Formats: sequence, C-alpha cells, structure tokens
Amino acid sequence: MIRTILLGPPGAGKGTQAAIIVKNNNIPHISTGDIFRENIKNGTELGKRAQEYMSKGELVPDDLVIEIATTRLLEDDCKNGFILDGFPRTVHQAEELDKFLDEHGQEISVVINLEVPDDVLMKRLTGRRVCPKCGATFHIVGMPPKKEGICDICGAELIQRPDDNEETAGNRIEVYNRETKPLIDYYEKKGKIANIDGAAALEVASAAVAEALGG
Ligand code: AP5
Ligand code: MG
Repeated sequence: MIRTILLGPPGAGKGTQAAIIVKNNNIPHISTGDIFRENIKNGTELGKRAQEYMSKGELVPDDLVIEIATTRLLEDDCKNGFILDGFPRTVHQAEELDKFLDEHGQEISVVINLEVPDDVLMKRLTGRRVCPKCGATFHIVGMPPKKEGICDICGAELIQRPDDNEETAGNRIEVYNRETKPLIDYYEKKGKIANIDGAAALEVASAAVAEALGG
C-alpha cells in the first residue's frame, strides 16, 4: 500500500509528480496548499487566516495545518493509501502526523525527497502557470500548453499563482531551507527517504518516483 509524503522545496515538482502517481494508482492526492487555495477562493474563515501567511510565503501555523490534514486523512478514500504533498512541513507537523498514523495503525511507506537546486526552483516558480478550474500545471518554457495561456485539459484561461512572484518565491525557498529541510534528516533516521533527482526531465524523475513507490 502506498502511503507516501512528497517532500521538496517550492517548485520541486511535488504537485506534478502527485498528478502522475494518481493516474497510476487509485489513491487521493492531499495538498495542504491546494486545500488552503480552495478555501481562499471560497472566502472561508480558514482561507482568510491562511492567506495572511501564504501571501508572504510564510508557513501557516502548525495547529491549523495539522487539524486540516488529519481531518482529511480520516476520510474514507484514504483507507487504501494516500499521497501527502506539502505536509508535513515542520518537525512538529511530522511528529503529530506520526502520532496520528500510529493511533490508526498506519505508517508512511516511503518519503519521496525531490532534490532541485535553488536557481532551477526560481525559474520553475516564476514561469509556472496553473489552471484555476482543473488544477493542471504548466510552465511557459519547460511545459508550455499547446495554446498559449489556455489549459490543455479543460480549456480555461491559465493564471499565475500570487505567491509565484520573485520576492515571495524567494522567501518560500528560504522558509523551506530553515523549517522543512530538517525533515530529510527526520525521515532518514527512520529509513524512509528515497532521494530523487527532481531536476531531471519529467519522464526520468517520474520513473524514479514510480520505482521508489514499488514499481
Ligand atoms: P504549496 O502549494 O504546497 O506550495 P510549495 O510547497 O511552495 O510548492 P509548489 O506548489 O510551489 O511547488 P511543487 O513542488 O508542487 O511544484 P510543481 O509540481 O507545481 O504551499 C503554498 C503555501 O501554503 C505555503 O507557502 C504555505 O504558506 C502554505 N502551506 C501549505 N502547506 C503547509 C504546511 N504543511 N504547513 C504550513 N504552511 C503550509 O512544479 C513547479 C513548476 O515546475 C511547474 O511549472 C512544473 O510544470 C515544472 N516542473 C515540474 N517538474 C518538472 C521537471 N521534472 N522538469 C521541468 N519542469 C518541471
Ligand atoms: Mg504544489
């Protein structure tokens, strides 16, 4: 059973890889970033609280994120596995996730650590375009849509994420290095890390991810 965490800096390809894993395995993709963006779009209280932090590239407070993620993991579709994308992001979140999984007789099978150098990340983030309707992700240079500015999958007009400007993206990378990178060590000690070259061509990176997940 696949119970995996996609770990990696902003722009490493977590969302892109998750979409490929979902196609080949019938398990849900749980992105805390996507959950917050959906709440911002719907103008909920949670969205308002999260936006304060996301717009600056800071982390949303642990207690809020842990509550959202563990509530989602209790849903029926997670019984046969799940892909966590962007959670946990601090050692405290990881400890709470372990506690939660332990209480439910579950454990993480493997943590996919997508490694990408900072200069590549910046180009990926500032060139990224996303579909506000179906969530598909493109890149103006690396993975352009067939028709400029239009989603290949559903035909909606593509947008740029508000936190993908140079300043906010730069802060997100710094926050990752400070708060999230220690998780590599955390999961390495548990023997769960699979290091993947996330800067490789998409087919190469996704083949390596599939292999780490068990073929
Ligand atoms: P979140 O939405 O999770 O953003 P992130 O971690 O910054 O990661 P991204 O979504 O930017 O990158 P990605 O790794 O998914 O890359 P992608 O596949 O799109 O979080 C946003 C915010 O929410 C946080 O800043 C924080 O405020 C808050 N938050 C969320 N979770 C939280 C938590 N647990 N705790 C506290 N706060 C939390 O790819 C990027 C680009 O590269 C795309 O254009 C893609 O086409 C391209 N690309 C991908 N792979 C390749 C490849 N192999 N070759 C060439 N191009 C590629
Ligand atoms: Mg993402």
